Amino acid sequence: MNLTITRPDDWHLHLRDGRAMADVVGATAAVFGRAVVMPNLRPPVTSVDQALDYRGRILAALPAGSVFEPLMTLYLTELTCLDEVPRARDAGFVGFKLYPAGATTNSDAGVTDFDRVAPVLEAMEACGLALLVHGEVTNPEVDIFDREKVFIDRVLAPLLRRHEGLRVVFEHVTTKDAVEFVQASSPRIGATITPQHLLLNRNDMLVGGVKPHHYCLPVLKREADRQALLAAATGADRRFFLGTDSAPHGRSTKENHCGCAGCYSAHAALALYAEVFDAAGALERLEGFASLHGADFYGLPRNRDRIRLVRDSWTVPESYPFGDDVVVPLRAGEEITWRVERVE
Ligand code: NCD
Ligand code: ZN
Repeated sequence: MNLTITRPDDWHLHLRDGRAMADVVGATAAVFGRAVVMPNLRPPVTSVDQALDYRGRILAALPAGSVFEPLMTLYLTELTCLDEVPRARDAGFVGFKLYPAGATTNSDAGVTDFDRVAPVLEAMEACGLALLVHGEVTNPEVDIFDREKVFIDRVLAPLLRRHEGLRVVFEHVTTKDAVEFVQASSPRIGATITPQHLLLNRNDMLVGGVKPHHYCLPVLKREADRQALLAAATGADRRFFLGTDSAPHGRSTKENHCGCAGCYSAHAALALYAEVFDAAGALERLEGFASLHGADFYGLPRNRDRIRLVRDSWTVPESYPFGDDVVVPLRAGEEITWRVERVE
C-alpha cells in the first residue's frame, strides 16, 4: 500500500539553534517543503534583523542538497515596535507569535497585558500578517487542563472581536472546546494540530508511570478531546492543518525533576500522521491536511513536488544526536507502520 501526495509543509516547528539545530533540521527538510519556525530561542527572536540572522543559520545548517524554505515568525512582546510590522512583511515573514508570558518553554518575554499589543495587532491586520497564538492562560489559579478553554473565553474571543480583519492561527489545539470554537469562527481563523495530540491522551502520559517524553504544552487532554481533534483533522474543514510542534529537548532536561515541555516528532512526523489517518479510514484526507490547507490559509503557493508514503513498519531509534545530549523521539524503540519512501 502506498500513497503519493503533494509535498507537505510543517506550519509549527521548533528548530532551536547551534549544533542542536544542525542535528534536527535535516529530518524536517527531508520531507517538508517549508516550515514555520518558532521564535522562542533564548533570547527570543523579536526583530527582523535577528530573524534574518536566524534564517541564515538555518539555511547554513541544512544538509547538502536540501530543498527547504524556513518561514520566519517574530516573537511578539509588549515592547514590539510598530515599525517592525511592515519590515516583517517586506522580509517575507508569515507573522508574529503570541505567547502569554510564562505559558511554555522560553516564553518569559511574552505578553501579560493584551491591551498593550493592540496597536501592533492593528498594524499586522493592515499588513496582512498572521498572528500565531499559543492559546493558554497562565494564571496560577487556572487548572492546567482548563487553560486552553479559559484562554478562548478571556483572551481569544475578545481579541478576534476587536481585530476583525486579523488572520489568526490557533496553534496546537488540544481540546474539543478549541475545535468547536474554530468551527464556529470565520474563515480567517485556522488551527494547527500536532501528531501527539492526535495519537495520545493524558492516560498515555500518566497511567502506569509518568512518561516525560509525552509531556508537552498544551498538555495532553482527555480521550473525548483527542476524538474531536481526530474528527477535525480528518474532516472536510479546510481551516485545520498540520503543525507538528516538534520541540526537541535533550534527554537530561526531559528526564529531570522539573522536566521540559515538548515532544520531538520531526524524525517521523508525516509517518505518524499517516498512521492516524489510516487508522481513521481517512487516508484520502491526508493530503489536504498536510499539504494544501495550510498553504491556502497563509495565501502561499502550494508545493509542486510530491512525496510517497509506504505502509511498511520500521523501528524508531531509542534516541537521536542532539548537540551535547541526545533527544528521545516520539515512539522511541517502537514501531511505526508508515514511512516516507522518496521525494520525487
Ligand atoms: C515548545 C518548546 O519546547 O519550545 N514546547 C511544547 O511543549 N510544545 C513550546 C510550545 O510550543 O509551547
Ligand atoms: Zn510550539
